[in-house]
Amino acid sequence: MGIAFPVQLVYADGSTVTFSITVQNSLLVAAMRNTAYIRHDCGGKAQCGTCRVKVLAGKAAPKGVREASLLEKINADSDERLACQLFPMAPIKVQVNYNRK
Ligand code: FES
Repeated sequence: MGIAFPVQLVYADGSTVTFSITVQNSLLVAAMRNTAYIRHDCGGKAQCGTCRVKVLAGKAAPKGVREASLLEKINADSDERLACQLFPMAPIKVQVNYNRK
């Protein structure tokens, strides 16, 4: 099972969903397993940028080269990450700019 942390996902309308993420799972994978909606047009391949989230609190593993490159290309803010490439290392709170489906 491994170490797990709580994740809180905040939608644009302020509604939240909280679930647990196990180390070595991306935020996107954990969200999908918990039916927490995060857009992911490329299927988690760090190619589309639709899974971008804003990190409000918490700690995650540093960005890899592919993630950093795509975030730069889409003019993401410094506190934004790709959910498909985000691996939390502590409890984390993130926000998306759309509502839950
Ligand atoms: S799902 Fe496409 S970049 Fe993350």
